[in-house]
Amino acid sequence: MRSLSPCLFRWFTMVGLSALGLAAATAAAEPGAAGDGSKPVFDSAAAVAELRMTIAGHENDPAETVFKNILTFKSVPAGRVLEIMESGMNRALGVGCTHCHEAGKWDVDTEKKRITREMSKMTAELNVRVHLIDGIGDDAAINCTTCHRGETTPALELAGSH
Ligand code: HEC
Ligand code: HEC
Repeated sequence: MRSLSPCLFRWFTMVGLSALGLAAATAAAEPGAAGDGSKPVFDSAAAVAELRMTIAGHENDPAETVFKNILTFKSVPAGRVLEIMESGMNRALGVGCTHCHEAGKWDVDTEKKRITREMSKMTAELNVRVHLIDGIGDDAAINCTTCHRGETTPALELAGSH
């Protein structure tokens, strides 16, 4: 099989670029950010801003030289990994950072991080597989949003089709 990593970076780049324009406008709707009492308040945007300051000057260095526990995003620029966390992870699944991390302990592994790494591998494999279908164009791509669409559990039926 072809190497998966360039492909992986490509679709994460794509999801990031398409989602970033909307990030500011929808930040207040993020679960846990609204302070509605149903979930502990966690300010994901503030966490990213703080992390950006801690990596200042190293945004373009490979993530594994800047962060402590990088397996999936080896050779991806560190600044880009933070964008992926915000748009690829939070927005695609409709969660806050603490869905997968204990706040501030970003390098510590969790069950959700393990699942997420497997999901990344699966998605990279699907991006190779889809191009083996005759008639599918070069630009076709699958990312987290393709299935998750802002939910932790992808839908099996269209809304309102029960
Ligand atoms: C759906 C799960 C998920 C969500 C949500 C998520 N992350 Fe992550 N995060 C991961 C995974 C998986 C890794 C490890 C990536 C790797 O192996 O390359 C990671 C790694 C990191 C790292 C690198 C830590 C280190 O030192 O190795 C930072 C920093 C980080 N995340 C911050 C955040 C922030 C801030 C948010 C919210 C904006 C966030 N994450 C949301 C899954 C998630
Ligand atoms: C081909 C469809 C598909 C793609 C693409 C996909 N997922 Fe999933 N994901 C699923 C399914 C199905 C489940 C299991 C839902 C269930 O438990 O019923 C799941 C579950 C998860 C879970 C555990 C649910 C939870 O409570 O947190 C996480 C985390 C997750 N996916 C992250 C991701 C991330 C990040 C990406 C992109 C790298 C991704 N997924 C891409 C289909 C997909």
